[in-house]
Amino acid sequence: MLDIKFEATKNPKPIPDENDPLVFGTIFTNHMFVMDYEMGKGWHNPRVTEYAPIVLEPSAMVFHYGQEMFEGLKAYKSEEGKILLFRPDKNIERANNTNKRICIPQIPEEDFLQAIKAIVSADRDWIPTKQGTSLYIRPFVIATDPYLGVRPSNTYKFIIILSPVGPYYKEGLDPVKIWIEDEYVRAVKGGIGEAKTGGNYVASLASQVKAHDEGYSQVLWLDGVDRKYIEEVGAMNIFFKINGTVVTPMLNGSILPGVTRDSCIALCKQWGIPVEERKVSIDEIYEAAKDGSLEEVWGTGTAAVISPVGQLRWKDHIMPIQDGGIGELSQKLYDTVTGIQLGKIEDELNWIVEVK
Ligand code: COI
Repeated sequence: MLDIKFEATKNPKPIPDENDPLVFGTIFTNHMFVMDYEMGKGWHNPRVTEYAPIVLEPSAMVFHYGQEMFEGLKAYKSEEGKILLFRPDKNIERANNTNKRICIPQIPEEDFLQAIKAIVSADRDWIPTKQGTSLYIRPFVIATDPYLGVRPSNTYKFIIILSPVGPYYKEGLDPVKIWIEDEYVRAVKGGIGEAKTGGNYVASLASQVKAHDEGYSQVLWLDGVDRKYIEEVGAMNIFFKINGTVVTPMLNGSILPGVTRDSCIALCKQWGIPVEERKVSIDEIYEAAKDGSLEEVWGTGTAAVISPVGQLRWKDHIMPIQDGGIGELSQKLYDTVTGIQLGKIEDELNWIVEVK
């Protein structure tokens, strides 16, 4: 059990007005959680302290070789005022898998959860309650050794910041348009694609800019070897409903194992809908779009929740989905996932953890 010190801010910021729209990732709460690591000493000095700039040497390794892990999860306030986390154990497990892949020391699971609860509890008044909003929790670890050689750092900082957020996309729950990338690739099996680390996201920027310029919200990646099999979208996993069956790319080492992805698969199975986790080629999707068997497409992610896709573009082929509207299953998944997250729907699968 961590002995977390609490140093309250002397300069509290005003909490945003519930009636002002919240743009994703732009506002940060009054406090942050910080814990240090030093080789030989382990993780130490856990504290909740003022949200403020951190001082690092310009030679800190994270700036040069990108040794950093990050996660994303959310806290919600139920109608009765309970503070609820959605499957934090899955994020913690994935964080330590990322840590292992990029040589960051493991963070004991119970300490990680205690840290999340401590910071959320400290800034509990910042959890927005309006429809479609939540408190986004961003835990991350950075390598802090002042050193320019390439090796794992011997010192780290584990930090958790909080941001009250609205929808990730400006479209909200309206369908987004997705550009299928056929020039660059995001990751390959054996690389770091299944780890949640900044390098995967910087690799996506050039394609994202290109897609934005063409009026598309995000990029859908094809695999890096055959350039044929669908992987994931920039900030989401992807699902297709083809002839009544839900199909999603299997986890193959280069795809992020999304928590919302896992939750959608579990819910569809519970509802008796056939689900296939397998290789999905872009030709299969193109053919299904052409012959009318592609019924729905949606993305899943912590930030994006369930995001219906209204159009896919691959080379010169434009594939409208559901006439640009929301499919029945996408809507049901959205309603169910957010209903469980907000404590409105019974948590049969034991996904909710309360912050007291
Ligand atoms: C999340 O969904 O929490 C993510 O980490 C995606 C991020 C790039 C916004």
